[in-house]
Amino acid sequence: MLILSVESTCDETAVAITEDGRRVLTDQIFSQADLHAVYGGVVPEIASRSHVEVIAQLADRAVAVAGITKKDIDAVAVSYAPGLIGAVLVGVNFAKSAAYSLGVPLVPVHHVRGHIAANYIAFPDLKPPFLCLAISGGNTMLVDVRDYTELHVIGATRDDAAGECFDKTARVLGLPYPGGKHVDALSKQGDDKMYKLPHIKVEGNPYDMSFSGLKTAVVNLVHTSEQKGERINREGLCASFCRAMSESLVPRTMKLAQELGYDKIAVAGGVAANSRIRDDFKAAAEKAGKTLYVPPLSLCGDNAAMIGCQGYYEFKAGNRAGTNLNAYATMEL
Ligand code: KG4
Repeated sequence: MLILSVESTCDETAVAITEDGRRVLTDQIFSQADLHAVYGGVVPEIASRSHVEVIAQLADRAVAVAGITKKDIDAVAVSYAPGLIGAVLVGVNFAKSAAYSLGVPLVPVHHVRGHIAANYIAFPDLKPPFLCLAISGGNTMLVDVRDYTELHVIGATRDDAAGECFDKTARVLGLPYPGGKHVDALSKQGDDKMYKLPHIKVEGNPYDMSFSGLKTAVVNLVHTSEQKGERINREGLCASFCRAMSESLVPRTMKLAQELGYDKIAVAGGVAANSRIRDDFKAAAEKAGKTLYVPPLSLCGDNAAMIGCQGYYEFKAGNRAGTNLNAYATMEL
């Protein structure tokens, strides 16, 4: 079954062609990062307008590179929530029109379900159930993946997403947008014990998370040293920050896996590209005798192949959207 899938929830426009869920024929991605870099963050209107400009060209290119014709497409899948609303609307409207004109079913896909499904592409043998930590620019959650379309959020951030916190740290240190990868790169040259940063403290659900305290601590540290005329050690701060982030995420995930009795742990989303988090997960999984699944960097960030993969399982579960499908800025998993 061939699916044309569409992703436009933030600052990547992407169109993919996937076969039977896990086989990626092509994944065409246009990153808008350069358009937003000058502003230090995503400007919603610029994002929407850029999606409008490139989306049809990407679809044409996807069909050509996959070596298929439009008539071969069996369904269209689209990431319809959550995300920047103006951006998501562009993808939804394009996908709707494509499904309408091709006369094929339209399949709605939750963006974070897509991130989790990136693991099915990377690891052909991976099947639910397993535990997944989804960490991206807009979402941070611990998900009990009981089946392909039966997912339960056990804990989530109560304020900022992990990626937001990386990007804010980068910004206050004067690093380019999107900042996560720059914080990661600098952290490799620094001492992770140089700065003492707070770890998550939340009352109630032990698997909920909060990153606003960590973010504020970094901002205060940088501003205070500027006021005192002291030079901040950027490498040391990035290393200490990655350590604090990893120590907030990895042990929590391992504890939950133990509690749920899962031997398989997956990590997904843009922040899953972080080298400290990847290394710490690898060591923790080895120690606990659990199997770890972390996608290659190309499948961590936003892409459309992951939407096509999850779209296949949503289709098999009977999920379809009508021509009245809307886009949503927020949506439960
Ligand atoms: O999954 P993604 O592309 O978009 C969303 O669905 O939100 O994630 C983007 C986020 C950004 O916050 C970016 O800074 C972060 O992932 N990121 C990283 C790294 N690479 C990307 N964060 C930490 N370390 C990295 N190497």
